[in-house]
Amino acid sequence: MKAVNTIARMSTLVRMLKKEGKTIGFVPTMGYLHDGHLSLVKAAEKHTDVVVMSVFVNPAQFGPNEDFDKYPRDPKRDEVMAAQAGVDIIFCPRSSEMYSEGYSTCVTVEGLSQVMCGRSRPEHFRGVTTVVAKLFGIVKPDIAYFGQKDAQQAAIIKKMASDLNMDTEIKMMPIVRETDGLAMSSRNLYLSDAQRRDATVLYRALKRAESLIFAGERKASVIKEDMKKMIVQKPAAKIDYVAIVNPCDLKDLEIIAKDALVALAVNFGKTRLIDNIIVEV
Ligand code: PAJ
Repeated sequence: MKAVNTIARMSTLVRMLKKEGKTIGFVPTMGYLHDGHLSLVKAAEKHTDVVVMSVFVNPAQFGPNEDFDKYPRDPKRDEVMAAQAGVDIIFCPRSSEMYSEGYSTCVTVEGLSQVMCGRSRPEHFRGVTTVVAKLFGIVKPDIAYFGQKDAQQAAIIKKMASDLNMDTEIKMMPIVRETDGLAMSSRNLYLSDAQRRDATVLYRALKRAESLIFAGERKASVIKEDMKKMIVQKPAAKIDYVAIVNPCDLKDLEIIAKDALVALAVNFGKTRLIDNIIVEV
């Protein structure tokens, strides 16, 4: 595995790969890797010749009171895990080069970025789309892989790639979970033991929504109320939102007539966890 820290070196490698006719699969991450990230590498390995992973804790997607400084970082461990998983090039650019002095361009996907997580994190998705557009410009991937764990992020990036005629296919891969159902996340490490135990209610609430839908319940409001009742039984859980939306345009569904994205964000102390499930009707 090659480790690359500068945009110039990454661009040279990309030019060489393109000349050789190699396809590039890309897995953008903020590091502190876990099996969720590595599942995206496995998918990329299957479909493309060369797998590039980026590790960059992107300051632009953190709000002023969020956890940018505290976000877990372990570059050495990331390198070992990425190499073992089959990454060919790990790209870890410096913030000073990604956002050099006088940097002034942003990419915003209107609408989709303002709902769900966008309500409590108003600048977040603009930071994500800006950095992903920059990374696509550098890595020029044929296919880029994103996790359903961040289903709203994946929908927004799909829209960006389509609206801006980007030559990259966006693939969304399933959520990897701990054995008790909690979705893997670099932020799970912030949870106390008690919060970690209580956090399993999230997946149970999502599965409960799924079984209600399978049993014939079609009213989104009824399902959301049921989920909220389950979640608030855990005293540490503070619900940000529970939503049932169309998985593509993220518009609220009142009546569930076809596939539905059931998504939630819940705070446990200072830790905000998100999770979701797509129910095929
Ligand atoms: P990060 O949170 O590091 O996640 C990188 C990728 O891994 C995202 O596509 C995310 O959806 C996926 N992922 C995280 N947990 C997962 C899980 N349990 N199962 C499957 N996939 C999972 O998302 C970001 O970084 C950033 O916003 C980024 C896109 C890199 C832009 O900065």
